[in-house]
Amino acid sequence: MRMYNEINIEKIDIDAGPPSKEPDRQYYFMAKCREWVKDFEQRYGRRPTACVTTFGCQMNARDSEKLRGILKDIGYIEEQEERADFVIYNTCTVRENANTRVYGRLGQLKPRKKKYPHMMIGLCGCMMQEPEVVEKLKKSYSFIDLIFGTHNIYKFAELLAARFEAGRMVIDIWKSTDKIVENLPNERKYPFKSGINIMFGCNNFCSYCIVPYVRGRERSREPKAIIREIERLSEDGVTEVMLLGQNVNSYGKTLEQPVSFAQLLTEIEKIDGIRRIRFMTSHPKDLSDELIEVMGKSKKICRHLHLPVQSGSTRILEKMNRRYTKEQYLALTEKLKRAVPGISLTTDIIVGFPGETEEDFQETLDIVRRVRYDSAFTFIYSKRTGTPAAVMEEQVPDEIIKDRFERLLKEVQIIAGEMCAVHEGTIQEVLVESVSEQDHSMVTGRLSNNLLVHFPGREELIGEYVDVLLRECKGFYYIGEVPK
Ligand code: 5AD
Ligand code: SF4
Repeated sequence: MRMYNEINIEKIDIDAGPPSKEPDRQYYFMAKCREWVKDFEQRYGRRPTACVTTFGCQMNARDSEKLRGILKDIGYIEEQEERADFVIYNTCTVRENANTRVYGRLGQLKPRKKKYPHMMIGLCGCMMQEPEVVEKLKKSYSFIDLIFGTHNIYKFAELLAARFEAGRMVIDIWKSTDKIVENLPNERKYPFKSGINIMFGCNNFCSYCIVPYVRGRERSREPKAIIREIERLSEDGVTEVMLLGQNVNSYGKTLEQPVSFAQLLTEIEKIDGIRRIRFMTSHPKDLSDELIEVMGKSKKICRHLHLPVQSGSTRILEKMNRRYTKEQYLALTEKLKRAVPGISLTTDIIVGFPGETEEDFQETLDIVRRVRYDSAFTFIYSKRTGTPAAVMEEQVPDEIIKDRFERLLKEVQIIAGEMCAVHEGTIQEVLVESVSEQDHSMVTGRLSNNLLVHFPGREELIGEYVDVLLRECKGFYYIGEVPK
């Protein structure tokens, strides 16, 4: 199989018509789009610019890199959203406020599009998989140029070509797919670290969650394709990889030749040049002893696990269809702490799930105190149409949810501060990621356990591993220095 960097888009004969095979078909449409970019250049005396704005999770961030890769190879130049000729929103719909934000931003784009008719607006991602959303966009936001979903993102070049040809709104949404198209371009945000999709979709159907409806059924990539991608990345200077999937612990189960996630990790560990391996997200019900053992032995897997608990009440967990009890979750975290000393645990918690009582909420506070998370993302329950929880009775009143949310946040913050402080005074390896935003004489890096450290240093250190003395804990991050 040819890798993407062996393809010369310039040489593709666009008069020959599109091939039916992927990814060749997309290479063809990229070549077609280039013609359009050349026209733009002739007309306006410059190349067109584009901006992809990401809402939501790391999956979406990775998808946006793929869109940027295609745009770049077509000839677009990256630009700030305020000035770009082509603005794309890669949307999220996990909570209602994500949708509200997108509508708000579209409202702001409308006058700009009126003033500059050559401007284009594209929408994609999870929110587009909801038929009501697309209906609303068609009716009230007819100035949008291109709408596509999560399943056909690989077809971006083809859809863009269709938009150029049609001269009006193009919509293409698929209900589902079993297809995984390899070898398309992508434009990484960081030269030294990268996300890698290992699987798509989700089969868990937690009763509050819309993801299985918008991301479809679970599909794993072939281990060979993943390994090859990481080897390429490593040759290209990447030393830290983040394996991405909605439920990485069930990776490989649906492959023709099933492979476990732990086996995949063991293979990735062997790749030269890779120094750090991260992954997310893990579902507690599928986290195997085999994986814990591999994590315990590994020199490269980071000492950090994001393990969403959602609630500490077994009664609520059952209503959420999480398929574990509070006790099982606690036992799992204890096992992890024994097998991987110093492991940092982080989590997601939902407050105000239908029927949550003060006693249920106390159970959540209790589990937070017992596990002692290094950090936790706390969410107010958001009703998502089409999910089983949306029609459950006893939706919790807003004031009660707000009060619980604040109490939980306080607890989480106190414990996270204490957990962070335990490393004070130690020397730890840091991967430097950027120059600090607040102070340009400092750089910001990440510890294996995912905590951030700011320390005096210059831009040249970006991408380097440096041993840093963690001088002072500031609650959620450290101020450090390179020991003399
Ligand atoms: N309401 C609130 N939070 C939600 N999450 C998923 N669905 C909902 C919802 N309907 C949270 C979960 C999940 C994280 C990505 O988002 O905690 O782990
Ligand atoms: Fe990610 Fe889920 Fe939001 Fe989609 S809906 S962007 S999968 S968090």
